[in-house]
Amino acid sequence: MSLKVFHNIKKLATLKGAAKKNGRHIIEADLSPILNAVMVSFKGKIVWVGPKGQFKKANLKKWDHPNKAKYVDLKGAYVMPGFVECHTHSVFSGDRSRELELRNKGVSYQQIATQGGGILNTVKATRKASGAELASLLKSRVQNFIQQGVTTLEVKSGYGLNAVTELKMLKAIKEQKKPRLVSTFLGAHARPKEFSTSSQYINELINKQLPTVKKQGLAHRVDIFIEKGYFTLNDAKKYINKAQSLGFPVCMHTEQLTRTGGALLGIKSGVQSVDHLVQVSQSDIKALSKAETTCVLLPGADFYLKMAYPPARKLIDAGARVALATDYNPGSCPTQSLSLIGLLSRLEMKMTLPEVLVAYTLGAAYSLGLEKEVGSLETGKSCDFVCLDQSWASLFYEAGHHPVQQTWWKSRKIY
Ligand code: NIG
Ligand code: FE
Repeated sequence: MSLKVFHNIKKLATLKGAAKKNGRHIIEADLSPILNAVMVSFKGKIVWVGPKGQFKKANLKKWDHPNKAKYVDLKGAYVMPGFVECHTHSVFSGDRSRELELRNKGVSYQQIATQGGGILNTVKATRKASGAELASLLKSRVQNFIQQGVTTLEVKSGYGLNAVTELKMLKAIKEQKKPRLVSTFLGAHARPKEFSTSSQYINELINKQLPTVKKQGLAHRVDIFIEKGYFTLNDAKKYINKAQSLGFPVCMHTEQLTRTGGALLGIKSGVQSVDHLVQVSQSDIKALSKAETTCVLLPGADFYLKMAYPPARKLIDAGARVALATDYNPGSCPTQSLSLIGLLSRLEMKMTLPEVLVAYTLGAAYSLGLEKEVGSLETGKSCDFVCLDQSWASLFYEAGHHPVQQTWWKSRKIY
């Protein structure tokens, strides 16, 4: 049935105010809640949302015969937009639990990497895994996200570092049927052993892998890790040029362990997002505050690596648009918990709850270039929402608690 009327909603956060402000300078009023709300969807998109008192059955005829509408009783739930998880490395095999022990003994993340652990460790395991194994591992991780209310999920490749395995990873992502998946080619995650310099490997990516990924239609966008010991600013310039000339939107891991100037390059190149940003300078913050590029903050990685957190307050107060994500991966952030990320954002980055809620929905939608489709509950957008048994005021407070009762994607119940 394609016409649906969701009713008996105690309170619904539309985030209309936040959307009007393009996700910047968020205050509580920008959640734009409606008391006793009704939401109507047609073919998976929101066509009407408002207070029950203003809902008229006769108006349904604009979309279909009013008698054909299916009424869905949400039993007094609190409803808000589905979460947009915009930065994950959810396809991988193996685990790196031993590295936590090493880090506790004082070995740094970078030292572990130069000793053959780190990303290259996961690369070994992922190269060995079959496509079916990767798809099945990914499927259960995706399910975990869905249970937490995620309706749009970004997943990166980047543990193959050769054409065969990178394509295998991207195909595993493409196999997932729900929720909305955004797949990102991260061939430029680390330099594989087969190449002796990062620039040689970048040339291989530019000349072979990027065109192949494009031709096979396996990725929506492209990412690169700009960092000492990984890829240089010059590598990134060449790589981004090529990716953009092929029509890929770009995002980047940058300013995480050291300041490289990647954020400024990102702004100049018009990338969708710059992610991590722990090491940004005052002038970077100023530039980011005026940029269309979204700042993706990943406090889970900072927590696991015992690093400083990005200057979220400074970025937000200056007017930057911020998104939050788990950065789920087996090395620097082995958690899928949105609850932990939201809590760290409040406790360690001093973000207000409305800022966290908007960053995890609308802000994240912007970072994926999906702000016209998802991230708020407004007419014309996808009918992607979660039902909570308590007000959203209860979110990101109790560690490990995430009171999502139901997840709906394109007006279909997926949890
Ligand atoms: O986002 N920064 C690079 N990539 C990941 C870490 C991946 C890994 O350690 O396996 C990150 O933190
Ligand atoms: Fe990452």
